[in-house]
Amino acid sequence: MTITAKDVTLRPYESSDIAAMTVLLNMPAVVEGTLQLPLRSLAERERKRQGFEPIVDLVAVVDGLVVGHGALQLAEQHRRRHTGTVMLVVRDDFHRQGIGERLLRALLEQADDWLGLRRVELLVHASNTGAIALYEKLGFTREGVLRDYVLTRGHYRDALIMARLNR
Ligand SMILES: CC(C)(COP(=O)(O)OP(=O)(O)OC[C@H]1O[C@@H](n2cnc3c(N)ncnc32)[C@H](O)[C@@H]1OP(=O)(O)O)[C@@H](O)C(=O)NCCC(=O)NCCS
Repeated sequence: MTITAKDVTLRPYESSDIAAMTVLLNMPAVVEGTLQLPLRSLAERERKRQGFEPIVDLVAVVDGLVVGHGALQLAEQHRRRHTGTVMLVVRDDFHRQGIGERLLRALLEQADDWLGLRRVELLVHASNTGAIALYEKLGFTREGVLRDYVLTRGHYRDALIMARLNR
């Protein structure tokens, strides 16, 4: 299915999206690219969602189906309140159709124009070349390597910290 920008709607995440998010977060490429464990239940997702309160919390919807999620979480420490952390996932069957970029642009617009954040940062698996290409396209740069950061199918993998400054 080829979709165009006008087929995709961004709206706030609602609690009724939890079942669709459970499906999305259990998808193989999403598990691979994040810190999610595979095959997690709806009940577990509901528990984890409690207390997760990002300042921006958006889903991308195509034909009524939640196909992506983007969140921006503010740093808790007072002296780091100028910093947000990005989380971004798109359903495996909707990759490379501009949805991740659309979500990330929306997060960055809020960071820059509504929240006045100076720094937006994220962690990405060093092998996740697609995500890294997206982040670099939107102005993130690589700041460092976190060695053996994540266990993936029995192997320890490095992660990168990337950030984009607005100054
Ligand atoms: C990473 C991810 C969010 C990208 O979302 P997407 O909707 O597939 O990406 P887009 O179609 O918006 O791509 C935008 C740009 O990013 C780059 N890009 C994205 N995926 C790429 C890939 N696999 N290879 C090379 N470049 C890629 C390209 O520059 C692309 O622009 P172009 O299509 O005009 O060339 C998505 O692949 C995903 O959810 N992966 C699994 C979970 C994950 O890894 N999340 C990131 C955790 S840090």
